Amino acid sequence: MLALNITPINKEKTFGENELIVSRTDTRGMITYCNRTFINISGYSELELLRKPHSIIRHPDMPKAVFKLLWETISKNQEIFAYVKNMSKGGEYYWVLAHVTPTHDQSGTIIGYHSNRRRPKRNAIDTISKIYASLLDIELKASSTTTGLQKSYAELNNIISSSGKDYNELILSL
Ligand SMILES: Cc1cc2nc3c(=O)[nH]c(=O)nc-3n(C[C@H](O)[C@H](O)[C@H](O)COP(=O)(O)O)c2cc1C
Repeated sequence: MLALNITPINKEKTFGENELIVSRTDTRGMITYCNRTFINISGYSELELLRKPHSIIRHPDMPKAVFKLLWETISKNQEIFAYVKNMSKGGEYYWVLAHVTPTHDQSGTIIGYHSNRRRPKRNAIDTISKIYASLLDIELKASSTTTGLQKSYAELNNIISSSGKDYNELILSL
């Protein structure tokens, strides 16, 4: 994947509070549509993005456990809200609050997914980035990728259950 060859740099990109970053994927997470705001902030051309895995903009600071929860939720036909730190083609990062939903055909079968992303509040980024750093630490210190993911996913579920809220409520309360 292209993103693997990019070195992250400690420089943030932001977008307007009235802007919406939009993309759609097929059921495997391959990009089938992205809007102009997505193209502008990601630094890729439309041609570079279409039919590529969404992980093209994955930032290495993102814990795997969050994407596991995302995929488990949307493939069960449910919506999810998630804070995501993304990486542009130039290595800069940009935080988004994503709302990911399944798209259906007339018979109700999932035919893909849709994500609308807004600019997150700074306080929420401060809170979530500490949680993500602790999950990533668990993943990186584990003896294997599988063990790391199991442990960090369990920790993510602990954080959710000790909040007394369901995951989406917790995210939207930040
Ligand atoms: C509609 C949709 C939008 C997504 N948006 C992002 C995104 O903005 N950034 C990201 O890193 N992953 C996003 N993902 C998740 C990726 O498909 C992938 O699971 C993630 O980048 C982790 O990649 P990896 O499993 O190759 O490490 C999205 C998935 C879907 C279905």
